[in-house]
Amino acid sequence: MSYYIVKKSKPLNGTVTVSGSKNASLPILAASIINGKTTKLYNLPNIEDVNTTIKILEYLGCKIKRDKNKVIINSKFLKEKQIPDELMRKLRSSVILAGAMIARFKEARFSYPGVCDIGSRPIDLHLKSFQKIGIKIDETTSFIQCKCDRIDNANIHLDFPSVGATENIILAAVLGNHEIKIENAAMEPEIIDLAQFLNKMGAKIYGAGTKSIKIIGVNSLKEVSYRIMPDRIEAGTLMIATAITGGNATIKGIVVEHIEPLISKLVEVGCEVNATKDSIKVNAPRRLNSINIKTLPHPGFPTDLQPIFSALLTLAKGTSVVTENIFENRFKYAQELKRMGAQIEQEGKNIIIKGVKKLHGANVESTDLRGGAAILIAGLAASGETKIEKIEYILRGYDKLDLKLNSLGANIIRKEV
Ligand code: EPZ
Repeated sequence: MSYYIVKKSKPLNGTVTVSGSKNASLPILAASIINGKTTKLYNLPNIEDVNTTIKILEYLGCKIKRDKNKVIINSKFLKEKQIPDELMRKLRSSVILAGAMIARFKEARFSYPGVCDIGSRPIDLHLKSFQKIGIKIDETTSFIQCKCDRIDNANIHLDFPSVGATENIILAAVLGNHEIKIENAAMEPEIIDLAQFLNKMGAKIYGAGTKSIKIIGVNSLKEVSYRIMPDRIEAGTLMIATAITGGNATIKGIVVEHIEPLISKLVEVGCEVNATKDSIKVNAPRRLNSINIKTLPHPGFPTDLQPIFSALLTLAKGTSVVTENIFENRFKYAQELKRMGAQIEQEGKNIIIKGVKKLHGANVESTDLRGGAAILIAGLAASGETKIEKIEYILRGYDKLDLKLNSLGANIIRKEV
């Protein structure tokens, strides 16, 4: 087990470059099994969730060559049609492999993804959509068996713009002789990255990034090389870390429009934010204003930055209200921030944050991936030392976040027990 010792940081300063996007990498890695050929991916983040997904691809029969942020996947000799149970439980988003396996084999077998730290994470929208395009679903007690002869034409209207369900439908429908429309599709940038990757392989996907997506099935997909988009949530985490320390830092290698929802909120709390084509400079005042945040599907404020922005608001002047509209259990980190002196009360899907002048170091632990990041950046502003245990959560989704923050002047030491 490892933990962090975080000392109070001076204002963060300097320049740092973000890694590739975790949430674009996972569906694109899944999609690499469809072409039965070689796929070269660049700018892959070196994180636990990517490692687990690559282990699943190897289990299924892919030949993998990996060199830091580059991976070459040969999916010619795929043999397995079942996603391994223990890996499915370790990484619930591996349900995204179902769509890719259906595209390749017209069948897939997987267990229900485990409940995760931030909510029940059902897959009813995935399964309902699969049935709509002609896939027969057989749900025994522990396994879900998907099978079809072909994909049928269909117009799907998603009850909720689910990112995973939108991705799974696109993956399942990319090969064949049909036309599928998805209405109320998720508009997240990671959907655009997946569609661009598949279209580069010869797929016909139109409208990614809008509410209406059309997929026209094709006969086969080609070999492809592709560079994963930058991680907008890591970029946002680094920007908020700069703000909580009253710093002045530049985050490079980003797509500015991906983080516009955050930029407007950082300006609202009192930061100066200057953007160029691929970088953003955050210059923060000593004390921030309190504001209200409501998480919504893209292009609303991203739920993944809610915990991290809430940590910032614990030190703002006045009272802030944060409303979490996407996941039902995404405030667990608040208990840990209260141990550091934050004043936070939960009322249903809202938390009320009364800004305090200071946070103090404490022994705390990560509650989940983004909750862990929230506690880490609170430690930058807390007096004394903060010991953060269960940092495995943070390592799942951030590529050397501690080293990136230290390169801007933070003082985070990683210790192994
Ligand atoms: C993706 O999760 C991301 N994960 C999440 O990032 C992100 O928070 C989320 O999208 C929303 O942006 C990956 O891309 C790997 P959803 P996903 O399906 O696809 C409900 C992080 O920290 N729902 O859009 O699982 C669901 O319960 C992670 O990087 C159903 O009810 O998100 C939730 O309340 C966390 N039925 C809401 O929709 C379904 O069939 C949003 O889920 C599917 C989802």
